Amino acid sequence: MKKKSDMKKGNSNRPKILVTGGAGFIGSHTTVELWNAGYEPVIVDNFSNSKKWVVISIRELTSSGIRCYDVDCCDQTNMRKVFEKEGQFYGIIHFAAYKSVSESVDQPELYYSNNIGALKCIMELKEEFGIPDLIFSSSATVYGDVKNLPVTENAPLGAASSPYGVTKQLGEELLLDAFETGAIILRYFNPIGAHPSGLLGELPAGTPQNLVPFITQTAIGKRKALKVFGTDYNTSDGTCIRDYIHVVDLARAHLSALGRLLVDRKTDIFNVGTGRGYSVKEVVETFQKVNGITLPVIYDARREGDVEAVYADCTKANQLLLNWRAEYSLDDALMHAWKWEIRLAEGIDLAA
Ligand SMILES: NC(=O)c1ccc[n+]([C@@H]2O[C@H](COP(=O)([O-])OP(=O)(O)OC[C@H]3O[C@@H](n4cnc5c(N)ncnc54)[C@H](O)[C@@H]3O)[C@@H](O)[C@H]2O)c1
Repeated sequence: MKKKSDMKKGNSNRPKILVTGGAGFIGSHTTVELWNAGYEPVIVDNFSNSKKWVVISIRELTSSGIRCYDVDCCDQTNMRKVFEKEGQFYGIIHFAAYKSVSESVDQPELYYSNNIGALKCIMELKEEFGIPDLIFSSSATVYGDVKNLPVTENAPLGAASSPYGVTKQLGEELLLDAFETGAIILRYFNPIGAHPSGLLGELPAGTPQNLVPFITQTAIGKRKALKVFGTDYNTSDGTCIRDYIHVVDLARAHLSALGRLLVDRKTDIFNVGTGRGYSVKEVVETFQKVNGITLPVIYDARREGDVEAVYADCTKANQLLLNWRAEYSLDDALMHAWKWEIRLAEGIDLAA
């Protein structure tokens, strides 16, 4: 078992963690939590789905000079230069990937080359530089159409419904084949919310595909009305059910995963959700209640590919990820998401 004192240190005496995709939605919040917990996060991001000013916000929030490299994770030559320049990393958290299900259906090759290409490059450099730990962002999408709820890590996988899902399932298989120890796969449910400060949040490209950014953009007036897809599902109010987890709780699960590898090196898979499902109608009503806003809502037909209900059994994460559990409520997440949308509307230099 490794001890804290064995961790490889950077100049700052903090264990150094490479965060790929660290300027993105989940990566930026995780970078802040890593810094707050005494790590030294180093970001690599090619800004294909994020903005450079996010890194400035991260530095502001942490009062730090966290380093960021504008490098594509598929570019092994330049990635190697980052490893050589930074010296030994204690661990890698690999977020960098494309994440749009619909875009992946239109451009599967793009998703295979980026998501698998980046992971393979990271895995090779992990081996070459002897980096002990790797945390991989997987998704509840690997479960496909779930039969038994809540879904456990042992449920059969069925991700083949989208190339994006395939890249996550394949990524998991590559890691399980390559590393018997030192890797943790986290299957995220539905990350929502924003940093409580309002300084970090989600930046959806184009029309949001996820419910909460669609809600906040409607509330701010960027969208005419909120579309709810499907009201005839076999659920209590007819709308789909999902497990929404506050992004800061999700970020903290990565720290617990790093801690877990200190006590047990075995490669393993964990669901990361709240264990509770909320319907689309419940989310809309909660947003209106906590923020005092009435939303224009259009009830539309079902959207192709949407699963009726999915929420996590988080028992394994609660027990083995050092007692990690989601702490923020849905109310908190929807208040923080709204605070973030207001900040965007008040004007950050979005061209940066
Ligand atoms: N947000 C979700 O709903 C969700 C759910 C389950 C899993 N995930 C996974 O979590 C991870 C992070 O998701 P997110 O919501 O923060 O997405 P995001 O798009 O906000 O962040 C991903 C970041 O990776 C960067 N990136 C992409 N490809 C890159 C490459 N080749 N080289 C360098 N940087 C690259 C992007 O610029 C972006 O900053 C992804 O792997 C995603 O598939 C996300």
